[in-house]
Amino acid sequence: MSEKLIEVVDTAGVVRLTISRPKALNALNSAVLGELETVLTELEARNDLRGVLITGAGEKSFVAGADIAEMRDKTPEEARAFARQALRTIKRLETLPVPVVALVNGFCLGGGCELALACDWAVASDNAVFGQPEVLLGVIPGFGGTQRLPRRVGPAMALDLVTTGRKIDANEALRIGLVNRVMPQAELEGYVEELSKQLAGNGPEAVRNAKQAVHDGMDQDLDSALALETSLFALGFAGGEQKEGMSAFLEKRKPNF
Ligand code: CAA
Repeated sequence: MSEKLIEVVDTAGVVRLTISRPKALNALNSAVLGELETVLTELEARNDLRGVLITGAGEKSFVAGADIAEMRDKTPEEARAFARQALRTIKRLETLPVPVVALVNGFCLGGGCELALACDWAVASDNAVFGQPEVLLGVIPGFGGTQRLPRRVGPAMALDLVTTGRKIDANEALRIGLVNRVMPQAELEGYVEELSKQLAGNGPEAVRNAKQAVHDGMDQDLDSALALETSLFALGFAGGEQKEGMSAFLEKRKPNF
């Protein structure tokens, strides 16, 4: 049996996905993307899902980009199909109705950075290296980098990175808002444990609605986005979570969602 390219570990509904092609620094080829999409299809069907964490196998790399060997001889049409496969898969990761967190454990370049950008937030080990080095290969980012990067770090910083191809370290990534936290690699596991407990314990409906409000609101004008927030806030009072959460507070006990 061939080895899995995406390892899946489930801890009480918090699923850790590990992209596992360490010999190529976990570069994304069509086989990895295909397997990731299959896993995401399974996750989408689950109603006990509480969170998804995505990382790369080994201590050296998260994902070192799209697979350059696979891309080299592609025609424009084949390149378009490859980009569409990646964009579709990444979008499905982004729109899971639970928090999706990138655990960036090393090189996070090109398509790897684009994958991390589709996550709700990212945590990096202090040896992580980020960049969109596509221009150094004679192309532009094709897995969403020209669009999601400026939305996360602003157009000037995105243009700096995308047009020079320069690499930045974890601390610069933190300063520009590309990642939320930086920690020594040895501490990532502890963070994962703590985060998994948090995600498993929160009310899934409220978390889903909060994610939807932020994501959908970002594409709307402020008044429409605030109206969306009001609708989702009110909707929260229709389910059991709000009664339980507020009762638990008033009764000085932990909520049981
Ligand atoms: N695609 C295919 N193979 C890759 C790869 C990639 N993106 N990145 C690394 N590898 C392979 C290397 O070819 C090498 O394979 P061999 O052992 O068979 O020679 C193996 O992984 C280890 O890599 P290195 O020997 O280069 O390791 P290093 O420590 O010297 O350097 C690195 C690490 C700086 C990350 C370097 O590998 C590198 O620059 N990689 C390419 C990064 C890049 O340009 N990414 C963007 C790709 S284009 C893209 O992603 C387009 C898009 O938006 C869709």
